[in-house]
Order: sequence, then structure tokens, then C-alpha cells
Amino acid sequence: MYEELLAEIESLVIDEKNFVANASNFVSHLYSKLENISWIGFYLLSGDVLLIGPYQGKPACVRLHKNMGVCWASVNKREVVRVDNVHEFPTHIVCDAEANSELVIPLIKNGVIYGVLDLDSYLLNRFTEEDSSNLKKLVDTLVNASDMQAIGRFYGKTY
Ligand code: SME
Repeated sequence: MYEELLAEIESLVIDEKNFVANASNFVSHLYSKLENISWIGFYLLSGDVLLIGPYQGKPACVRLHKNMGVCWASVNKREVVRVDNVHEFPTHIVCDAEANSELVIPLIKNGVIYGVLDLDSYLLNRFTEEDSSNLKKLVDTLVNASDMQAIGRFYGKTY
């Protein structure tokens, strides 16, 4: 399945450099293809917060304050963070009380971090190691095709 998704995402982003345009199609496509995902979307670094970007799912928290929650853990570690049960993650930020597991992938290009892709599920233990590594590849395809410096300036990235 991920091989197909990679080819589809490549074809969606290959001719466009604008991150918001590419990210919008990216989340739309994955939301329609991946099973048991309640929310998928981007949070982008803006000053000292992560500010919401293109997403699919219910309205969510707009600003995630520094060093709190799963998304900031991924920014600080610059690594994928997979949480089987969000209720056991001490600083987890609740945007939808029904969410139970979460996967966060950092957006890194040329060693610079711009934000994260966040996926939530109502299932416990929804995400596997296979999801982590393949979603990282999909995110890398997106950031490599997109002008990340422009979105960093637009969102007011200083971190
Ligand atoms: N749970 C995230 C906040 C974002 S929402 O899940 C959409 C966190 O702890 O960073």
C-alpha cells in the first residue's frame, strides 16, 4: 500500500513548489486512503509556537505552546514520535477527547526543521513501525518538492 501511496504523493507534488498547495493535497489524499485516522495535519513553527496548517478532520487546537505535547516532543528530538496510548503521555495536548493514539513526523529539509505532520486515531496502538518509516518517506517527498524557506518566512519561523 505504501509503495502506491508514495507514487501517488510524488505525482501530486512534483510540479508545484508552494508548500500550502502541496500539503493540502497531501493530507486530503492520505485522509482518504489511510484507515482509522481521525485527524491528519500540519503544525508549522511560528515564533515560539506550532501553528496549525493544512489538515483534514475536525477543527483542532490552533497554537501548541512550546515544549508541551507530542508535536513539540518531535520538534525537540527531530525524530518521529509514536504514542500507542496518548493518555500515558504526560504533556499530551487534547484537541479531540476521543483520540487514543498518535504519530508525529518532523518536517526536516537540509537539516532545518519547519514543523510536523500529526496523525491521530481513535484506536489505541493504531500506528506501527511500518507506518512511522513510510510516513517519514512521504513527508520527505513533500518537503523535498516544496519551497520550505518560503513557508518558514510566511509562518514566522524563528525556532
Ligand atoms: N495531541 C497533539 C496536539 C495536536 S492535536 O492532536 C491535533 C500534541 O500533544 O501535540
